[in-house]
Amino acid sequence: MVAGNWKMNKTLYETRDLIREMYPVLHNIQGVEVIICPPFAGLGVAKREVEDSTIKLGAQNMHWSDSGAFTGEISPVMLKELCEYVILGHSERRAMFGETNETVNKKVLAALAHGLKPIVCVGETLEENQSGVTADVVGSQVREGLAGLTAGQAEQVVVAYEPVWAIGTGLAATPEGANAVHKDVIRPILREMFGETVGDGMRILYGGSVKPDNAAELFSQSDIDGGLIGGASLKADSFIALVKAAM
Ligand code: 13P
Repeated sequence: MVAGNWKMNKTLYETRDLIREMYPVLHNIQGVEVIICPPFAGLGVAKREVEDSTIKLGAQNMHWSDSGAFTGEISPVMLKELCEYVILGHSERRAMFGETNETVNKKVLAALAHGLKPIVCVGETLEENQSGVTADVVGSQVREGLAGLTAGQAEQVVVAYEPVWAIGTGLAATPEGANAVHKDVIRPILREMFGETVGDGMRILYGGSVKPDNAAELFSQSDIDGGLIGGASLKADSFIALVKAAM
């Protein structure tokens, strides 16, 4: 799976144009699930552009309620009409918008209740990494973020390991380092929580400065099942190169 998180980038026309630029190569790609996640404002336009293709859409955030007095928020009921996936708990939302493992968990449960597939982001900060608590931090994010899910629900979930120090810095984790967190921290917890078969089948993406020149090595690791891409998803040629690296 290769998912492009556009973050707060691209106007309506830019959304349409970027999808049109990628469409000829990506519209019928086999063997890799390709997802693009524009801002809310662009989802409607994006939906029209990817119709009749294998390209799927995701949102970047969601409230856990169906509707109500939550000014500025978007509900799972609304997203369901627009997209199949939703990114939840991105580190930028945790750092700047007060998201916690608890709110992420509410969102994950709400998304699943409405048939949306969550892409749940976890990852340690530089400080946490340097003080040797990566496994504890990431472990709690996975356990608390996915608390209360049935094994059947967990099958719909994608986990994205995005070390905060690697996001937008050009300093990606090493393929071996990222794989070690996937394989030795995240995967065992998923197996413990949801059983070995489901835990082994769940996809764990890596995110953080994935570029065309480091993608193939990252994606070839045993427990890296694809990428969640920020900056390199904003240009057709680099996003296409990343999708090809995953094939
Ligand atoms: P970059 O690829 O720009 O480092 O961003 C990664 C990310 O945060 C994707 O969600």
